[in-house]
Amino acid sequence: MDWKVTERDTIGDVLLLPFFAITTKPPHNSMNGLSRSAIGNVKRAMNNSEFYGKPGSTLSVWSDDCQVILIGMGPKDSLTHKDVRDAGANAIASLTKRNIIPGPPVGGRFGTNLTVRFTTGWNLEGMKWFVEGMMLRDYSFLKYRKKDREKAQEEGNWNLTIQASERYLTDLQTDIKTIAARVDGVHIARDLGNEPPNHLYPMAYAERAQDWANGKNNVKVEVYDWDRLQKEEMGGLINVGKGSSRKPCMVIFTVNPQVDPKAQVPCIVGKGITFDTGGISLKPGASMDEMKYDMHGAATVFGLMHALHASGYKGRVHGIACLAENMPSAEAYRPGDVIPTYSGKTIEVLNTDAEGRNVLADGLWKSGELNPEYVIDLATLTGAVVVALGHEATGLWSNNDDLQERIHQAGNEEDEIAWKMPLLPAFEKEMTGSKIADVRNLGKSRWGGSCTAAAFLKQFVPPRDFDEDNDQIPWAHLDIAGTAWGADTNSMVGHGATGIHVRTLHRLITGS
Ligand code: BES
Ligand code: MN
Ligand code: ZN
Repeated sequence: MDWKVTERDTIGDVLLLPFFAITTKPPHNSMNGLSRSAIGNVKRAMNNSEFYGKPGSTLSVWSDDCQVILIGMGPKDSLTHKDVRDAGANAIASLTKRNIIPGPPVGGRFGTNLTVRFTTGWNLEGMKWFVEGMMLRDYSFLKYRKKDREKAQEEGNWNLTIQASERYLTDLQTDIKTIAARVDGVHIARDLGNEPPNHLYPMAYAERAQDWANGKNNVKVEVYDWDRLQKEEMGGLINVGKGSSRKPCMVIFTVNPQVDPKAQVPCIVGKGITFDTGGISLKPGASMDEMKYDMHGAATVFGLMHALHASGYKGRVHGIACLAENMPSAEAYRPGDVIPTYSGKTIEVLNTDAEGRNVLADGLWKSGELNPEYVIDLATLTGAVVVALGHEATGLWSNNDDLQERIHQAGNEEDEIAWKMPLLPAFEKEMTGSKIADVRNLGKSRWGGSCTAAAFLKQFVPPRDFDEDNDQIPWAHLDIAGTAWGADTNSMVGHGATGIHVRTLHRLITGS
């Protein structure tokens, strides 16, 4: 979507008019630039219809030169940011682009020049939410659909003009720029999540990351390939990934690497299983295809790095993506194996399908070398979290109440709910109760499956300076198995990968 900010003057092919007032008259300044006949049509439609600006209601009015869509927001006082984002997203979802035909528009065929005009009652925050909803929803993944792809190419992007009263224009210009940068980050994460597993394997992700960094002088991408993983003795990644012909790797991002090298800054770690068959503990066939999004943690890391860079964030931030394909083969790791990890601790593998935690063990331990202020991991880690929270909320565990609360708050602001879950000592005891290794990768029963997984991860959070006398680095774990995909009630997404928590973490890190 291309966009610009202007005063309420001329309109394009389609005019969106979201308004609060329960009225039968068009709001002040809303009809600027419309032809006399279009104004007449809008007024007549408002008079003769049941449209009073009720929330969720729309009224579409066609004239010779444009289409005007009135969007009811309902009473302003009870409105939440979710309502407003949803309204923006729904507006885009309901619009179909029409091919631009040369000459004056005929027969309801208009182009892609879209104007959203804010009038009485709108403030800066509200306008930002509405536009953000529009931008987030303006996404599709048509790469592998010939006809749709060609049609979309022909139609081109929406050309959005955002119109408001003059006093808001400067702020809107700045703020929408940041929003567009974040939305790009979300869309990058969705692209990665939607990409089929034969196209997006571990080193393909690494190449995309390197391509992204190419030509940007304030980002750095380092790739630990198969050989390097051996040198580093990253046994978690090696063992999960060795069953596949597409070998595992670790990708380490830094935004603004030159900034204050001694300062403690955030580090975000992502699970990146480009496909999860379960390995030797093979998954059942139904819906196994969806396991291509088992790399959404790593997708969010990538999208976040882009959002931070593109929005001009000045601080240093680290990202670590742990990439592997979990396949059954003669080379695969097996249940019963005891595997080493980068931390020096060993894992008793009781189920090869509990692979995400094994690769994250290496990523979390690696993060300690960057001396981070805090570490947050994102992972499509367990089916159990989907049982607990459905597709409505991410599970959020932490060893630090303050960090947990800050993430929860940032998630609320962005309508990406992260729900606090308990990191109980009993779960840790369960996971460290192996007779043969330091940690076991499976709980003793299936109960509390997402909590035992979190308790496992905690065993690999380094103490500050790797000194056992120090406290662990503040750490939080986001289990996004339910929120990264299939979130039907999420109006920001039509289908597929959601790009979850790019915005939450962007807000947490940048403070806005
Ligand atoms: N990637 C899955 C978790 C998952 C399930 C994500 C459904 C998205 C939707 C993970 O690797 C896994 O297989 N977890 C197992 C753990 C179990 C073996 C302890 C699970 O949840 O069944
Ligand atoms: Mn698995
Ligand atoms: Zn998995």
